[in-house]
Amino acid sequence: MALSVFHHPSLTLPSPPPQPSPPSLRPSPSNSLQFTLPAPRPLLLLLRSSRPNRRHSSLRAGLSSAVDSPPQTSGSQPEKKLILQVRDLTAVIAESKQEILKGVNLTVYEGEVHAVMGKNGSGKSTFAKVLVGHPDYEVTGGSVVFKGQDLLEMEADERSLAGLFMSFQSPVEIPGVSNINFLRMAYNAKREKLGLPELGVFEFYAYLYPKLELVNMKTDFLDRNVNEGFSGGEKKRNEILQLAVLGAELALLDEIDSGLDVDAFQDVAKAVNGLLTPTNSVLLITHYLRLLQFIKPTCIHIMENGKIVKTGDISLAEALEKDGYEAIAKPH
Ligand SMILES: Nc1ncnc2c1ncn2[C@@H]1O[C@H](COP(=O)(O)OP(=O)(O)OP(=O)(O)O)[C@@H](O)[C@H]1O
Ligand SMILES: [Mg+2]
Repeated sequence: MALSVFHHPSLTLPSPPPQPSPPSLRPSPSNSLQFTLPAPRPLLLLLRSSRPNRRHSSLRAGLSSAVDSPPQTSGSQPEKKLILQVRDLTAVIAESKQEILKGVNLTVYEGEVHAVMGKNGSGKSTFAKVLVGHPDYEVTGGSVVFKGQDLLEMEADERSLAGLFMSFQSPVEIPGVSNINFLRMAYNAKREKLGLPELGVFEFYAYLYPKLELVNMKTDFLDRNVNEGFSGGEKKRNEILQLAVLGAELALLDEIDSGLDVDAFQDVAKAVNGLLTPTNSVLLITHYLRLLQFIKPTCIHIMENGKIVKTGDISLAEALEKDGYEAIAKPH
């Protein structure tokens, strides 16, 4: 994940629940690690290296996509705050310089849910990872404005602290760091940014406990190392727990529905819906209509070969489900 929080009352007013169960924290080696990391750095543990992903020095001028996203429904609601504006974004794999994003355009306003669909390998995950500053990619052109700030000039942890969260398609394991310590570090980093005092172990547990209920997760998972040995579904639940704890003004959720059993699917979808407010936004990457029947999207985008080539409403996902990508390749 990368962090931030839906503007959650509990973030600014961390009122403990009336009768929190006592924490069952075991002393673990991860406690010492917790205090050796500089405050916002826990976020970078989730990316594989800490190389910054700032804008590449040789931006290609004048690059633009052949297909712009069509005007979105939000265009007719000018009173809404602009959360994300992506223009002609291009990016390469840092190591090989292979271009993956070839001119992405996307505009998200507050309170909107955008779904991105597209064939395997079309660039959906890369797009989300580039937005959170993943070090595997280098931006070569275009612009990204997040809440009025140039996102591409921000370090990955700054992006998180500014309100961007990503749940990864393949969540990262962090050996040696317990889930609860990780969550507390990340949450306290956020509080520090807001000028709020750190929460101690007991206070944090009181804050955390209702979130566990929200995602229907057992307390046992708190003492285990982050995602280590978690099943696929448990990892997805854990990602949503991170989102519930940290919140986000824009949450990028990459295939949160993949590998979930029926109950877990319901829990995760309900939890995401429960976190939605009129002022936060979600970008959902998914292959399936089913998720979009639970978490209703404002609009749906189809990504193809590193670009958004089509935008529409739920009927786009319905056509896809029925007849596959051939169906939506035709004029709609
Ligand atoms: N770090 C990397 N190293 C090498 N190739 C990469 C890397 N990241 C992305 N790619 C390649 O870029 C293309 C787009 O990958 P991406 O993960 O964004 O696809 P996707 O649309 O999310 O697919 P899926 O639906 O299967 O998750 C793929 O061909 C992938 O192999
Ligand atoms: Mg993907």
